[in-house]
Amino acid sequence: MKKTVLVSGGAGFIGSHVTVELLEAGYDVVVADNFSNCDRTCFEGVKKITGREDLPLEVMDFCDLKAVKALFGKYHIDAVIHFAAFKAVGESVAKPLMYYKNNLESFLNVLEVAGAQPGGCNVLFSSSATVYGEPDVVPVTENTPRKPATSPYGNTKTMCEDILRDTVKASDGALKGILLRYFNPIGAHPSALIGELPRGVPNNLVPFITQTAIGKRECLNIFGNDYPTPDGTCQRDYIDIVDLARAHVYAVTRMMEGKMKKDCEVFNVGTGRPVSVLELVNAFEKVNGVKVPHKFAPRRPGDVTAIWADPTLANEEMGWKATRTVEETLKAAWAWECHLAQQKETGSDDTGKATSLKDQILQAADKANEAISDAIDKVKEYSALSPEEKKAKQDEWNSKLTEAAEKASDSVKDIVDDIKEGADKLFKGKKD
Ligand code: UFG
Repeated sequence: MKKTVLVSGGAGFIGSHVTVELLEAGYDVVVADNFSNCDRTCFEGVKKITGREDLPLEVMDFCDLKAVKALFGKYHIDAVIHFAAFKAVGESVAKPLMYYKNNLESFLNVLEVAGAQPGGCNVLFSSSATVYGEPDVVPVTENTPRKPATSPYGNTKTMCEDILRDTVKASDGALKGILLRYFNPIGAHPSALIGELPRGVPNNLVPFITQTAIGKRECLNIFGNDYPTPDGTCQRDYIDIVDLARAHVYAVTRMMEGKMKKDCEVFNVGTGRPVSVLELVNAFEKVNGVKVPHKFAPRRPGDVTAIWADPTLANEEMGWKATRTVEETLKAAWAWECHLAQQKETGSDDTGKATSLKDQILQAADKANEAISDAIDKVKEYSALSPEEKKAKQDEWNSKLTEAAEKASDSVKDIVDDIKEGADKLFKGKKD
């Protein structure tokens, strides 16, 4: 029988590429996403690439334990790949609580429910090279010591690694876990139907390059040219998104086929090839025959000088190896940006935007419904009390009722905000 993999955050950049590779490897996939940081474009692209119009999609928030339980009740899940998390380093510094709450709570819920499945479950967590911080020695192996993270986002990766390890250990064999530490995923699917869709000004290098090349941004700032590297710019291990996605298929299969050597394993997912920012920009211009206006700018706080993977363990143990050249990957990234521009020109991306807007509003409406029902229940409960009981607990009831009324009111405001935001987005799409 076909095995089913749940991909949380499956409509995002990495999640959508992983979904394609899993389907092509013969797995059934359930995609779950709350569309908080992406629209429907990539989900629709996955269906087109794989011809799977029936691909299950659950619009839900993994911070909602009830919803996670219902999801596991609806499908028989053999493995979960957990992507559903916020990922912007700078935003995490400004809003730490939002990051800790969302990234930890969603993962805790997944583990709680997955661990209670009869027959157990396999969990793959998307970790990051960020856990190595500024390494003393490069390339880094899985045994390179982790360093304190420089952002709340990075902290959530380190914490989730520990949470998975501890939970697997305590689960008496019910849970198996794999931590994949990604280096810098870039590029897009060769079909150009899915790729990276940053909201607003991109933080990451390659979307900034492609947007500058197409004229959406004036000039790329290269952050720092005085680093102790061969050309003075930072070095990273840029890995093709399809190569990275395939690593997940290898990891899931390893778990399903009982080939793990430990109940919780860690693998670096990188190429082993350092590339500097300047080398990447030059390679992009050469392979695509376009100019990327760029200038040197001061260092970006929090950047590490150089990091790349030693991928030997993943190569030898999992049998996975990155295969794409940087040039192939940069061609795919450019094809994706051109595809987006073409869609905008013809207005064919409006349907995707409208559908995700609808999902967002429906979700907000569900929340409002719950908050209003809860407020009504509390008022009923209060009305049923005797005058003595009301008097005795007046303060407690005052705050209970106020809180319920405020929650209901906030949830209605959320719907209105979503509608306004959505209308703005659609209108802006037309103007741009
Ligand atoms: N860069 C520029 N100009 C830009 C954007 C980036 O010069 O406009 C440079 C950065 O300074 C860095 C390199 O390009 O030297 C790569 O930057 P990215 O933002 O693309 O990637 P990072 O290596 O900073 O980030 C990656 C992941 C994060 C993770 C982080 C931690 O994308 O999720 O590694 O190491 F948290």
